[in-house]
Amino acid sequence: MCGIKSQQVVLAAVAAAAGMVLCSCSPMQSRTAADQATRQLDIKVKPFGETSDGQQVRLYTLRNVNGLSAEIMTYGAIVVTLKTPDRKGKMDDIVLGYDNLADYVKNSPYFGAIVGRYGNRIGQGKFTLDGVEYKLAVNNGENHLHGGLKGFDKVVWSDEPVWKANAVGVKLSYVSKDGEEGYPGNLNATVTYLLTNANELRIEYQATTDKATPVNLTHHGYFNLTGAQRDILDHALALNADKFTPVDKGLIPTGELVAVKGTPMDFTRPTPIGARIGNEFEQLKFGGGYDHNWVLNKGGRGMITAARLYEPTTGRLMEVRTTEPGIQFYSGNFLDGTITGKGVVVYKHRWGLCLETQHYPDSPNKPNFPSTILRPGEKYETTTIYRFSTK
Ligand code: GLA
Repeated sequence: MCGIKSQQVVLAAVAAAAGMVLCSCSPMQSRTAADQATRQLDIKVKPFGETSDGQQVRLYTLRNVNGLSAEIMTYGAIVVTLKTPDRKGKMDDIVLGYDNLADYVKNSPYFGAIVGRYGNRIGQGKFTLDGVEYKLAVNNGENHLHGGLKGFDKVVWSDEPVWKANAVGVKLSYVSKDGEEGYPGNLNATVTYLLTNANELRIEYQATTDKATPVNLTHHGYFNLTGAQRDILDHALALNADKFTPVDKGLIPTGELVAVKGTPMDFTRPTPIGARIGNEFEQLKFGGGYDHNWVLNKGGRGMITAARLYEPTTGRLMEVRTTEPGIQFYSGNFLDGTITGKGVVVYKHRWGLCLETQHYPDSPNKPNFPSTILRPGEKYETTTIYRFSTK
């Protein structure tokens, strides 16, 4: 770390300890003292109702020094709201969801949740590991989807606030029992959401197990950078991926990695999502639009930029960085106007999109895909960052 940078870090830490806010803004952006006093890192916690079996659910409100905020509840580890500025500084909520817990419990297409123990599908709900066949709960035709009937999106997580010099957050923990939804091993999972002063929602995933098991955790936020004003077809998307994993009719990968070049799956340059979504292309027919895993171009290990999403009318830009090898881009094809979300907004077809960083779907049955098996003594650790700016 260079001298200046390390000095800044020390200063920031001292300032945070003293409850001060350091502003490295340009003169245009400089704020009054009164303004600064209200712009501190902040965490608030309040009750958000209870589940039918009497478990109390809490809602955390995280705020950073720039006024961005995220509300996260302990049911499903769900991001309920995420407010970011447009290019004029107007804050809007850029994720889909509900106003209250009851609606999430009743019927949610995984709005804002952490999905697990395995994000996306496992073909025919079974896999063989170390010579033993495991049968999982089947909840999507003949397949297992997003952890089964009661996945990590439908359980109440334990919580603790996290204070850092440059971020606030909540650490959520869940113990998934041996045999839950058919998976082997007691899995200790923690997911830490951090809202940083660099305007990032950073998600750190960790897990350990006492028996070998597949693990593939992801965040299922539905983004709409207009503030849910209209569908997402004019959002421009770029994906750092030269290949994707084609699927069969049931959306199970065939096992091939196929080049996107010359197809509507090519997002190597920023392209409006609606530009080719209606093309005569079998994969788009199978998905009812985009609902596929892209193979990220990874030079080596470590974190890379996986996606950039830009909304031209508001100027909002979201960059997705991850340590994961894949990303599921789902264009909200199953939204059909039957769900009324926050603020009585009707979520019509393709009103939100998901960019779920992950290992490839059905990896436990695909020996040529990167392994998703976690063994006793190993630590599952992945990080994904959603970074917000405007241009
Ligand atoms: C994922 C799946 C989709 C769908 C959505 C939620 O993206 O791949 O098929 O299940 O979640 O509805």
